[in-house]
Amino acid sequence: MSRKEGLKNYEDLDLNDTKNDHRLAEVYRDWAKKYDYDNDNVLGTVSQPKSVNLLSTKLKDKTAKIIDVGCGTGLVGKNLKALGFFYFDGIDISEDMLAIAKPRGYTNLFLGSLNKQLPVLDNTYDSAMCVGVFTHGHVSSDGFNELCRIVKPGGYLCFTINEGVFQEYGFEETIKEFEVNNKWRVVSLYKDDYMTLENVKGYYCLTTVN
Ligand SMILES: C[S@@+](CC[C@H](N)C(=O)[O-])C[C@H]1O[C@@H](n2cnc3c(N)ncnc32)[C@H](O)[C@@H]1O
Repeated sequence: MSRKEGLKNYEDLDLNDTKNDHRLAEVYRDWAKKYDYDNDNVLGTVSQPKSVNLLSTKLKDKTAKIIDVGCGTGLVGKNLKALGFFYFDGIDISEDMLAIAKPRGYTNLFLGSLNKQLPVLDNTYDSAMCVGVFTHGHVSSDGFNELCRIVKPGGYLCFTINEGVFQEYGFEETIKEFEVNNKWRVVSLYKDDYMTLENVKGYYCLTTVN
């Protein structure tokens, strides 16, 4: 399956449908082996290095325990490793994507969905990354609660949001609400290149969890 077919499949998905995760896992099962090629050559996705660079502007402790939620084939891990971070776990709904992430330096890789409770205890990680997951048909801003739960107070959360769902899925509003309700402090939020060959921009957000 080409990436264009994959994207079409997930743009039609309905976040309120309880079978959504299952259908999305099937999309990624069929896309897994071609994902990295499409990332570079069809989409021109730059969100992984850009978000890891954003995190590294503030997170100076290379021993920090990081979780990469929706890690896919491990392109975020590849960038974390290149910057000298060495403890990062990955979680995803797709076994096939996780299988490709295996050689990329993750300490633990496991299945879990950000649309449900993740199989992780409260306050486990120093920081969390979530790149390419807040997008069409994947996860709404409800996922923020789970990310905050698994990160220690004072830890960083670094995530991207596809510009196409920033308002539609309530991200813009919820980011502000979380700040007003003292759940996090926004360190950076800006729009930048995301899928350069498709001319799609994304929002990059870095917060500290309270
Ligand atoms: C666009 S890919 C991004 C993968 C990787 N983070 C990257 O930047 O290359 C989206 C990933 O999110 C995963 N995903 C989708 N819904 C998810 C959910 N509810 N919980 C966890 N992962 C999810 C998919 O299986 C897929 O691997």
